[in-house]
Amino acid sequence: MAAITYKKASCVYEGADSLAVDSLDLDIADGEFVVLVGPSGSGKSTALRMLAGLEDIDGGAIEIGGKNMVGVPSKDRDIAMVFQNYALYPNKTVGENMGFALKMRGVSLDERTRKVAEAAKILDLTEYLDRKPGKLSGGQRQRVAMGRAIVREPQVFCMDEPLSNLDAKLRVQTRTQIAALQRRLGTTTVYVTHDQVEAMTMGDRVAVLRGGKLQQFASPTDLYDNPVNAFVAGFIGSPAMNLMTVPIGSGGVQIGDTLLPLERDALTALASANLDAVTVGLRPEQLGIDHAEGFAAKVDLIEELGSESYVYAHLDDPKVKGLDGGPVALVARSAVRAPARIGESVSLTKLDGPVHLFHPETGERI
Ligand SMILES: Nc1ncnc2c1ncn2[C@@H]1O[C@H](COP(=O)(O)OP(=O)(O)OP(=O)(O)O)[C@@H](O)[C@H]1O
Ligand SMILES: [Mg+2]
Repeated sequence: MAAITYKKASCVYEGADSLAVDSLDLDIADGEFVVLVGPSGSGKSTALRMLAGLEDIDGGAIEIGGKNMVGVPSKDRDIAMVFQNYALYPNKTVGENMGFALKMRGVSLDERTRKVAEAAKILDLTEYLDRKPGKLSGGQRQRVAMGRAIVREPQVFCMDEPLSNLDAKLRVQTRTQIAALQRRLGTTTVYVTHDQVEAMTMGDRVAVLRGGKLQQFASPTDLYDNPVNAFVAGFIGSPAMNLMTVPIGSGGVQIGDTLLPLERDALTALASANLDAVTVGLRPEQLGIDHAEGFAAKVDLIEELGSESYVYAHLDDPKVKGLDGGPVALVARSAVRAPARIGESVSLTKLDGPVHLFHPETGERI
């Protein structure tokens, strides 16, 4: 086990005109489970591969257990990797697959058998040890790949979208198993996913990347409650935060006929930034559907999930704009079934919770 530090670590691919990973700074504690999340192409896999020694570190450094890894070959980094395509040897049994790295290392048969049995027990694979991978389900194969990593007892686990070949239900199951397993083993883990729900549910802390640059590195709840910019605000949370550019009125922001009051600190910050409009963020659970009070909107679509419903509506006020400059589409989350009808005019009320404010040009939190 070991702490990991990215120190202004950069990677540029040959012929590319921008950095795939740009001066990444991350301090990962010993035993921590850290998730790298971001849209496609944001540099997650590259950042992980730099740690594993599969990509060069073109600038800065990465340290494992206080030792600089620049120039250290992958095999000497004491890392075990689990990838999306966890190729297992088809002609070896589950047990042989799991023990293969140890065999290569010259570990005795007795010790190998003991370690594989231990890992199989943790992963609920004991009864499959003599089977070939071809006769396993996707989830079981995924667990064999995990087992192969566990038996090596590495300092660090690197995982790149290990669950993306599984169906939705199995993915949810396996993600809790991996998180629980990691807690039990206490091995420092860096886990890559593009799925923000996976990131939020698994990570002790989550690093949000965009265009190779770190946006925010914080606990899941902190990311949700205090996003540093409009990108993180819109990326974390499902359905996404409602973001709109709203004219500033006296004492608050003006949406249709309704003044959404703001706290004094926020008003002072807006005044000193000299803005006449601001990007306002409201989570779907902060919008109540009322038929009397609130800002006028028209319902476009309702999704019933059984336990709750999502109401998609658009605002009537042309002075309030979406981030793309177009009309504002909003989503409200309601605990009530069928809280409105499609085509109906409703009033959206702001419920408890913070009003997030972002600079309309830079997107930075105000
Ligand atoms: N081998 C390569 N050669 C050149 N450019 C690459 C290579 N691999 C990745 N890139 C580029 O580097 C950037 C980061 O890619 P990376 O694979 O790290 O993204 P990612 O966040 O893992 O995306 P995804 O979610 O799609 O897997 C992208 O712009 C990508 O096109
Ligand atoms: Mg990737």
